[in-house]
Amino acid sequence: MIKKIGLIGLGTVGQGVLRTLKKNSSLITRRTSLDIKIKKVCDANRSKGKVAKEFSLPFTTNPYKIINDPDIDIVIELIGGIEPAYSLIRDSLKNKKSLVTANKALLAKNGKTIFNLAAKNDVSVGFEASVCGAIPIIKSVSEGLIGCQVDKIFGILNGTANYILYKMEKENISFQKALTQAQEKGLAEQDPTFDIEGGDTLHKLCILSYLCYGIWPKLSKVYTEGITKLSLLDITYAKELKYRIKLLAIAKRNRNSLDLRVHPVLVPQRHPLSGIPLAYNAVTLYTHPAGELLFFGEGAGGTPTSSSVVSDIVTIASGNKGFARKEEDLTIKDIKEVENQYYLRCMIQDRPGALAKITKILALSDISILSVSQKMRSRGKFVPLVMVTHEAKEKDLKKAMSKIDKLSIVKSPSQLIRIEKI
Ligand code: HSE
Repeated sequence: MIKKIGLIGLGTVGQGVLRTLKKNSSLITRRTSLDIKIKKVCDANRSKGKVAKEFSLPFTTNPYKIINDPDIDIVIELIGGIEPAYSLIRDSLKNKKSLVTANKALLAKNGKTIFNLAAKNDVSVGFEASVCGAIPIIKSVSEGLIGCQVDKIFGILNGTANYILYKMEKENISFQKALTQAQEKGLAEQDPTFDIEGGDTLHKLCILSYLCYGIWPKLSKVYTEGITKLSLLDITYAKELKYRIKLLAIAKRNRNSLDLRVHPVLVPQRHPLSGIPLAYNAVTLYTHPAGELLFFGEGAGGTPTSSSVVSDIVTIASGNKGFARKEEDLTIKDIKEVENQYYLRCMIQDRPGALAKITKILALSDISILSVSQKMRSRGKFVPLVMVTHEAKEKDLKKAMSKIDKLSIVKSPSQLIRIEKI
């Protein structure tokens, strides 16, 4: 069976898809009896015509030459961002073309509308490349684990943030230096806000939440905190405490409540997630009956990610429509109600009685301390004080911290990082 594809967006992933299809087309046909053919490629940038030429493909700068082509069965959208991608996707679906996309930001924001529109027009949406690049997490959750309940998800879903944290620890360098390295390596964007402020991780968590729990959470309802406020001090002290700091996407389901969050976490060094190096991604799922599962691999890059796009093309071309999720009645848990252990770092004046003032505030807020350690000795000067608490409610902790930060013996703001017992 011959399936014809139109590809919009000839960036790194788009070019990776052309290369993979060229290289592996006979392998795909041997395995599936499908003959996948790219019919036309498009990019708004005219200079990308040379890419099309390299693959001997017709090129256009007008995406509607693809969307309105009656001969094309599947449209691949790889331009990213909200507009014009959203309009192009809607028009493709209305024209009864199945869609393959890597656009996590758009799915997180408008996934519900996109999937409803696809169902209405009896076409499919493939989005494997939208979460964790080459790792087949979407297919694993939606097919391999279709009979499983997913109780918890912990994921390193952003390679750039992981690279920065990894380099800070390994090379003892500042956040800014590690970010510059990530940018020089072409990992982080020139404007890396989505990577380092947690937005990209949030988008991917929303997609997993749709697959595992049937809901598209409102982005503003999911607590999101990035890695920009982390200092080398915290990375070092976490290591001394036998943890590593990772930016995690977290989902925990408890009856009708769903705890969804994105923030830096102290991960125990014995847990595999703490050892994820460089720009790799990893996800652990706690499921029933499959138990604990760990996925690890390349989370970005044109060549690895092309594998996910090609997988979606083959799945759709073979007529597998997947299952549309029925919406579940779940409430997103407010972070204020979440209970965690906490790592706290205050810069306090090194003088008698300073520690007592801080512990008194914590005691009055019903927060129990597991360990305290003053990290330097410098009479009268500000020195780091590191505390680890027992389980405490976020709202109590935050209230106590705002009182602590008002003390004259404290140089605010203090650092607060959640600890996950995984
Ligand atoms: N910017 C993303 C990351 C890659 O650093 O992981 C694509 O999702």
